[in-house]
Amino acid sequence: MSEDPGTPPAGAAKDWTIPQRWESYTPEDHATWDRLFERQAQLLPGRVTPLFLQGLDILRLSKPGIPDFEELSERLMKATGWQVVAVPGLVPDSVFFDHLANRRFVAGNFIRRPDQLDYLQEPDVFHDVFGHVPLLTQPVFADYMQAYGQGGQRAAAAGTIAKLARLYWYTVEFGLVRSGDALQLYGAGIVSSYGESQFALDDPSPHRIRFDLKRVMQTRYRIDDYQQSYFVIDSFEDLLDQTLNTDFGPIYAELADAADIETDAVLPSDHLYTRGTQAYAQGKRSA
Ligand SMILES: [Fe+2]
Repeated sequence: MSEDPGTPPAGAAKDWTIPQRWESYTPEDHATWDRLFERQAQLLPGRVTPLFLQGLDILRLSKPGIPDFEELSERLMKATGWQVVAVPGLVPDSVFFDHLANRRFVAGNFIRRPDQLDYLQEPDVFHDVFGHVPLLTQPVFADYMQAYGQGGQRAAAAGTIAKLARLYWYTVEFGLVRSGDALQLYGAGIVSSYGESQFALDDPSPHRIRFDLKRVMQTRYRIDDYQQSYFVIDSFEDLLDQTLNTDFGPIYAELADAADIETDAVLPSDHLYTRGTQAYAQGKRSA
């Protein structure tokens, strides 16, 4: 969480990027991508926002398997002026924010092993590219991601990254969006996961709560399992509008002394779409 990004690993550039080296992926690597891609491409229609499906076609490139970032970036650049750059793994916050603020999405260049199809804690190329890139073809979401990077740079200066990180988590990674009376998926952490693509919409366990910027920034999250609460935006336009037109300074000041909200809490002020049973998380706890 420091402002000093430190020294990039050997072989990486000053901005922590590395060559993707597409030619060094093995046939097994590409087969893993293809299996994951097919499984999600079959599961997601009807569950995910149609904007994601529109963007998904950008990943169907001229070569099979894992996309070549150069070719992908060419197409993405034409759509929204974004690029995809490779990094060795997680990068320091300040590096991450700088890339986003300049419309560059950082993606891990490694892919999970065939025995890790269902769960992986560190983001690999499938999570980063399949999960994140399709929505970056959509101008409003592309603008939101850049605004987030710029907000991150301000939060870094103010020492409030941990609060802002929750906004990313509950929108970009695990967000739901309302469509009439139905809810749809858009968060990359959900749409790149076979299990959570079903759990987030269908399971009676989690709460589904209308998005509220301040509430979200107060709420803890889980990195080790499915979320216990999902937050539902009205639209991407609304999310972008709130992010651009909110003065985060007073919110950070107010939240500095406020207690965190637990992952399974429901507040009287919450607008609930679903009050979850929390049975899934409780079952895990007592197991
Ligand atoms: Fe991600």
